[in-house]
Order: sequence, then C-alpha cells, then structure tokens
Amino acid sequence: MSHFEVIASDPHCGARRGVLTTAHGPVQTPAFMPVGTAGTVKGLTPDQIEATGAGIVLANTYHLMLRPGAEVVERVGGLHRFMAWDRPILTDSGGYQVFSLSALTRIDDEGVEFASHVDGAKVHLNAEIATNIQNRLGADVIMCFDECTPFPAEPERLEKAVARTIAWARRCRQAHRRDGQLLFGIVQGGIDLALRSHCAEEIVRIGFDGYAIGGLSVGEGHEHMVRTVEHTAALLPADRPRYLMGVGMPADIVAAVRAGVDMFDCVLPTRNGRNAFAFTRQGPLRLRNSVHIDSTEPIEDGCDCYACRNFTRGAIRHFFNCSEMLGPILLTVHNLRFYQRLMAEIRLQIEQGGFDCWAATALARDDSVR
Ligand code: GUN
Ligand code: ZN
Repeated sequence: MSHFEVIASDPHCGARRGVLTTAHGPVQTPAFMPVGTAGTVKGLTPDQIEATGAGIVLANTYHLMLRPGAEVVERVGGLHRFMAWDRPILTDSGGYQVFSLSALTRIDDEGVEFASHVDGAKVHLNAEIATNIQNRLGADVIMCFDECTPFPAEPERLEKAVARTIAWARRCRQAHRRDGQLLFGIVQGGIDLALRSHCAEEIVRIGFDGYAIGGLSVGEGHEHMVRTVEHTAALLPADRPRYLMGVGMPADIVAAVRAGVDMFDCVLPTRNGRNAFAFTRQGPLRLRNSVHIDSTEPIEDGCDCYACRNFTRGAIRHFFNCSEMLGPILLTVHNLRFYQRLMAEIRLQIEQGGFDCWAATALARDDSVR
C-alpha cells in the first residue's frame, strides 16, 4: 500500500485532498505543521498543540544536533518520547538553518562547516551526517540536506546550489537507513523556472517518498512565489505528497494549495503570536494596542479556541503589557487554531468540489486570508 493517497481533487485547479500515512498514524492533507524547532512548539504543551487541530509537527535537526544532541534524544527513547508527542513528526535537515542562523565558515561540494549559534563551536554537516542524525532522532518524515539560496541570488550561485542539492539528495537517499521513515527530496532553483525544471527532474529521477519545494518565502514576494510554486508543483509526481517549505501567510497557502501543494510549515502563527499579533478573519489585531484596554471581546468573534472561549482582548492586552507568560501562550493557541481552521476549510472545500471558487473569493477578500 502506498503511503500517500489522494482522496479528492478539485476539477478546476491543482488542489488535492489526501492522506499521508506515517508510522505514527495518518495526516490529513492539505496540512499545516506548527514549528517545534527545539523539540517544543514554544509555550505549548502537546495537549494544547493537539487541541489546535494539528496532526503533525516539525522539528529542526540543526537545533537538536547542537542541543541536546542526537545521541541524547536517541538514548532517552527518540524524538516522539522526548517531545511527548505520539503523532507524526517531520524533521527538517538543517539545510536551511545553517544558511540562515549560523556563521558559515566553509561550504563546498562535500558539505558545510559552521560556527554554532549556541557557543561558537565549529560544526560539520553534510548529506550523510544530516541523514544519520535524522535517522536517530526518529521522526516519521525526514528531509534531504539541501542548499537554500537567498533572494536575490546570482545565476551562478543558484546553479551551484541546485547542482549541490541534487548531488546531496543522491547521497541522502544512499545514507538513509531507517525503515518506516519517509525521506523527502527538495527542489531548489530560486525563481528561475528553467533551473526549477532541471532540479525537479533530477530529484524525481532519484526518487523519494515525497517532494518539497524549498528556497521560497525568502523575500521574492507573493507573485514570484506563486508562479514558481505553480511551475514546480506541476513537475512533481501526482501520487506523492508535495511540501512547500517555510510558507507562509494564509494567502500564500491558499494559492499553493491551488497549485497542488499538500503540506506547509511556517513560524508566522507562533512567532507572531509571541509578538502580540493575532490572525483573525476580520484582519490582523495587535494586542498591545491600548484600544483593547477595556475590550470584553474575544480575539476573534466565532473562534472556538481556548483563548477565545475564555479570555477577553482586554485581559490578553494586560498580560502582554506585564510580560506575563499567558499572553504569548494564548495568542499562540489562537493563531495555530486560526491556521488549522483555515486548513480544515480548505480540505472541506476540496472534498465538496468548491475549492477553486472559494479560493478566488478568499484571495480577493484581503482580510480573511491575508
Ligand atoms: N525551510 C524553509 N525553506 C527551506 C529550504 O529551502 N530548505 C530546507 N531544508 N528547509 C527550509
Ligand atoms: Zn481563538
């Protein structure tokens, strides 16, 4: 039996409704994965994560290899036990974090060397190490080690990154040892459609359990991103899950689902929540603003999350004002629930055959999904 099944497709666009089967159960797609960088979705217990409707979370190889180390996680029983999360987990390979978080001291065809953002120690990472660490962490889905380029990037830089990403993908597939753990390839190439075609063709030729589109949401803007995703998603096998990495705003997600993307992750709901920014159907809310001081309204009218059922905007504003932990916690709960309600609506619309029409309206109406 295949690990991915498309159960409904929109006849008017590329959108699909699917189920990804993992060692820790099924994931309903299109899916949004909350980011649990260091083995925790910041501020939330697993019960709270589950209550937002999340079916899978993402963790980072880069952070976990530096602290506490893959050996420690392995010794205490693996990442699921460590995180007290018995549902599916995906680990990113570190291919993005080394380029965005660390001081790179060497990059060549073999791999990278960087100074740890924790203590400055010199760390070596390459295709084999990233795969071995992910094998030991034990997530349900692991990612190839890739080179993510900044925007804008010189053509030679992009080409080199694509060549490395392809060579590293081959090495990751070779090095992968853990049964039952799905390995996804990553397509790079910036916003250069010809490079994307070349990269997609080679990554698909190697053959993976799923395919990710990387190197986006790095400053190229919505239109470039959508064009690149539409072009790239169409080149990926229809019977494998497609994952758009690090994206994004609700409008980006709706547009990418329309192009046939099945999985997403992004720090926006959690990071923005910690900064007192709430997503709502009526548009963004800044909870530090003194206009909320006497408000008895919930963050979002009609939201079924724990924060909206129990707390007023006035109380949450006060928590942020006093640096109380509950402020960030409640907004993280709300924002993640907002994202999961969006995904549930997307899945329902695809099942009912009305997604394309719904998406056009949702995208046109600024407030609801932007
Ligand atoms: N997260 C967001 N973008 C990327 C990417 O291009 N590569 C990897 N590995 N992770 C990402
Ligand atoms: Zn809410």
